[in-house]
Amino acid sequence: MLTIALSKGRIFDEAMPLLAKVDIRPVTDPQRSRKLILPTNQEDVTLVIIRANDVPTYVEYGAADIGIAGKDVLMEYAGDSVYEPLDLGLARCKLMLAGPRDATNVVGRLRVATKYVNTTRRYFAAKGTQVEIIRLYGSMELAPLLGLADRIVDLVDTGNTLKANGLIPLEHIADISSWVIVNKASMKMKHVRIKAFVQQLAQIVEHG
Ligand code: ATP
Ligand code: PRP
Repeated sequence: MLTIALSKGRIFDEAMPLLAKVDIRPVTDPQRSRKLILPTNQEDVTLVIIRANDVPTYVEYGAADIGIAGKDVLMEYAGDSVYEPLDLGLARCKLMLAGPRDATNVVGRLRVATKYVNTTRRYFAAKGTQVEIIRLYGSMELAPLLGLADRIVDLVDTGNTLKANGLIPLEHIADISSWVIVNKASMKMKHVRIKAFVQQLAQIVEHG
């Protein structure tokens, strides 16, 4: 049995055509179902639908053999507890430091609002800059507008969300895309099956 964990929304939408190319298709329409476990046309392959942030946890503990997760989520997740064998190149965007268009220099410690607390801490530590990090769970763009923070660290794709809220990108932190991750024990126990799956996907990613 192979269990593949992924989140609904952007990653699911972009991953489905790719999985279809390696002949993995959910048997029921996932958009019309509230089911979290989706059987596929391949009897030994099941998709499980979970929150994006929970994908590495399910894979680390072996509740899922394989996951598809954004690099932003993986960078934030502690340690090297899962294998990351393949960049799928899906859901591409950038993790950026952003701030108000008309920002003035901040006296004292910069306050940075983000849901990427660990990544932000590492980024500023590497620069030797002391900042105060304020943890949020979404709508980071609002924080500078209401004076909660001086800057934000968030994902940027078209830049429309920043623009619409009077913010500009300031510093590039990382290029983001979705990766295949694999449980370490599964990689040993189901080596042939998982290796074949990853190789098939890699072919598709490279040659279409
Ligand atoms: P949840 O809905 O569970 O809170 P989420 O809002 O992070 O999670 P999505 O918005 O579907 O879920 O994002 C999933 C992944 O897609 C992110 O982890 C990131 O890797 C990528 N992503 C997020 N926003 C964008 C974007 N605007 N453009 C491209 N990729 C994005
Ligand atoms: C993501 C991200 C930004 C936005 C950036 O949010 O958190 O707010 O996309 O994309 P843009 O540069 O193209 O505007 P998303 O649309 O996923 O909303 P959510 O975080 O509330 O799910």
